Amino acid sequence: MTRKSLFINKNLELRLPEKEFAKTLFQIIEDQREYLGKWLPWVEKNKIEKDSLEFLKSSILFNNGGQKLTTFIFFNQELVGSIAFVKIDKRNKVAEIGYWLSKNQQGNGIVSLACQRLIKYGFEKMNLNRIEINIASENSKSLVIPNKLGFIHEGTTRESLYFNDKFYDEEKYSLLQKEWFKNN
Ligand SMILES: CC(C)(COP(=O)(O)OP(=O)(O)OC[C@H]1O[C@@H](n2cnc3c(N)ncnc32)[C@H](O)[C@@H]1OP(=O)(O)O)[C@@H](O)C(=O)NCCC(=O)NCCS
Repeated sequence: MTRKSLFINKNLELRLPEKEFAKTLFQIIEDQREYLGKWLPWVEKNKIEKDSLEFLKSSILFNNGGQKLTTFIFFNQELVGSIAFVKIDKRNKVAEIGYWLSKNQQGNGIVSLACQRLIKYGFEKMNLNRIEINIASENSKSLVIPNKLGFIHEGTTRESLYFNDKFYDEEKYSLLQKEWFKNN
């Protein structure tokens, strides 16, 4: 991504990571540890602001190397979440999406819009063939998103996630480029 932002509408955009986001990012993590940590294993590893800074630095490197594409969701110029291709398999033209949103911004469709924008970029600009979303079976809020966006449910993998001292089943979803172009 050469531009700094992918615009969604006048209030909403996806910005590439910058080291300057560290303070805000860490403040969100610190304030919302329980809510975010329930489904995001990296939250407990983020203990001090420097951890957020290191995360941003590594995101910039991975973005530049094309292994990942991390972006931050800005609503009214304020960092409210993140959406990313957390894994990019260039050879097979496959990427996996991950996302989170600040607790008080939920329920406004922000993540759905952010997903649609990243998917459009992935299929149209990166020429991906397949985009995946993998979600813990118990994360009902998150399961709404791939279903709403027309992803196909491919199955359940048993106990493929382990964190917070517990195994979780995962629901596997995918969308293919041809399916996206048929509907967009
Ligand atoms: C999962 C998570 C991102 C969902 O956030 P969200 O706000 O519910 O998701 P959206 O932004 O797509 O909003 C969807 C809701 O907004 C409503 N909505 C309002 N306006 C909308 C619009 N223009 N377009 C789409 N949905 C809209 C929808 O009806 C939907 O409500 P519902 O949940 O009652 O069905 C959020 O709960 C989160 O970050 N959780 C913690 C981290 C996490 O679990 N990450 C995912 C790991 S796989």
